[in-house]
Amino acid sequence: MQKADIGLIGLAVMGENLVLNMESKGFTVTVHNRTPEKTQKFAEGRAWGKNILPTYSLNDLAKNLKTPRKVMLMVKAGEPVDIFIEKLLEVLEPGDIIIDGGNSLYSDTIRRTKLVEEKGLLYVGAGVSGGEEGALNGPSIMPGGSGKAWKHIQPIFQTISAWVDEKPCCQWIGENGSGHYVKMVHNGIEYADMQLIGETYFLMKHLLGFNMVEMKDIFSDWNSGELESYLIEITADILSKTDQETGKPLLELIGDEAGQKGTGKWTSQESLDLGVAAPTIAEGVFARIISGAKKQREAAVEAFPNTDAKPSLDSKRIVDCLHQALFASKIIVYAQGFDLLRHASQQYGWELNLGEIASLWRGGCIIRAQFLQNITHAYEANPDLENLLLAPYFQKILKQNEEGWREIIALAIKHGLPIPALSSAISYFDGIRQPYLWTNLVQAQRDYFGAHGYGRIDKGGRFHTEWQKANDVVISEEI
Ligand code: 6PG
Repeated sequence: MQKADIGLIGLAVMGENLVLNMESKGFTVTVHNRTPEKTQKFAEGRAWGKNILPTYSLNDLAKNLKTPRKVMLMVKAGEPVDIFIEKLLEVLEPGDIIIDGGNSLYSDTIRRTKLVEEKGLLYVGAGVSGGEEGALNGPSIMPGGSGKAWKHIQPIFQTISAWVDEKPCCQWIGENGSGHYVKMVHNGIEYADMQLIGETYFLMKHLLGFNMVEMKDIFSDWNSGELESYLIEITADILSKTDQETGKPLLELIGDEAGQKGTGKWTSQESLDLGVAAPTIAEGVFARIISGAKKQREAAVEAFPNTDAKPSLDSKRIVDCLHQALFASKIIVYAQGFDLLRHASQQYGWELNLGEIASLWRGGCIIRAQFLQNITHAYEANPDLENLLLAPYFQKILKQNEEGWREIIALAIKHGLPIPALSSAISYFDGIRQPYLWTNLVQAQRDYFGAHGYGRIDKGGRFHTEWQKANDVVISEEI
């Protein structure tokens, strides 16, 4: 019997689509699902007549595979991954490779890599982005883990991934949990990007009173310029849809409580743990949380009704300002995400290639965007770039867009329209470019009530003051 190139466990849509993608590129795939009915349904349906070998036990899955065996898990992140690893360790042999293609927490992947390697096998945690369509036609893949596994999985992964400018959107990221970490940050950026687009749409609706067709035309237009990206493209598409049942725009019928599975939260938690400022990403998470606090929101709507009349403003200028605000804020979000990656690389010893990561995200994934190539160029020109904002290209863009960005934020706040991500982005920008912040006062307060000490700008050392002495002229004592 023909042996399979790779095995895949977990036949939900992402898993099925990845199998079909692999098979369509000439690979033979053996598949398995926890519930046999699902395997059978796939075998008799979408997999019918293809080089896809269904199996109903992990023993058979292992027997079907060429060595070293490569088994990819596309199961729910968390416990199911651990359960399958345990079972696979019973049927696989040293040298074989287990790949987790789900959205696993990177620290779980670090732990699992160690566990699997201790048994003599290899482990890969691969971030896979692109949703169902990407899985079928070419996702962005971010594999990390046991380095020795790369040469075995590379031919398959780079063949099935998206390609941009004749380069695969799949490269080896680094050791243990680095692939899943990079995917986590991808998702954090995704949260913030979606939030920024959401706020822009919201301002268009409330400041300009535009209808769906008008808004769709603007997003379509933006998608042919600097903002060209998958998320802008699908926004235009979403705005164009009418509900068959009611004849109304479908978007207006969709409830406004946003869900989340956790990757944005993990990114924010990580930024706090590593001491990296990523407030706009965190705002993307908080905004979803607020949207779900329905009871509080209903009470607040009653307590503080928004009485502001619509501004009568030049709509062309507002649209221009919105474009500027969205573009500038998007750059801030990427700056925060890449700053987190830079620190994580140092913290965990991953030696991440930031320019290459930006190029992996150019195709196949949810945050794919034209401007990612400028991020690649920025890191190619200076791999030690302290912050993306400082790259000459991004300095230029921020300066060009600053005026409209400020104008729209002032307008939104004046009219009581919430813009958590847009305003957080500009505050990050304004904070980082201040020569002398208010935190001198924070340091003085900390020293006042807690004797925490402070540094001085006129001399070195660490000082404490007896702030509560009656006289106004105080002594700073070196501590
Ligand atoms: C991707 C997506 C994908 C998934 C998110 C959604 O890159 O293909 O990010 O991984 O759609 O997990 O996350 P939330 O449910 O948390 O919005």
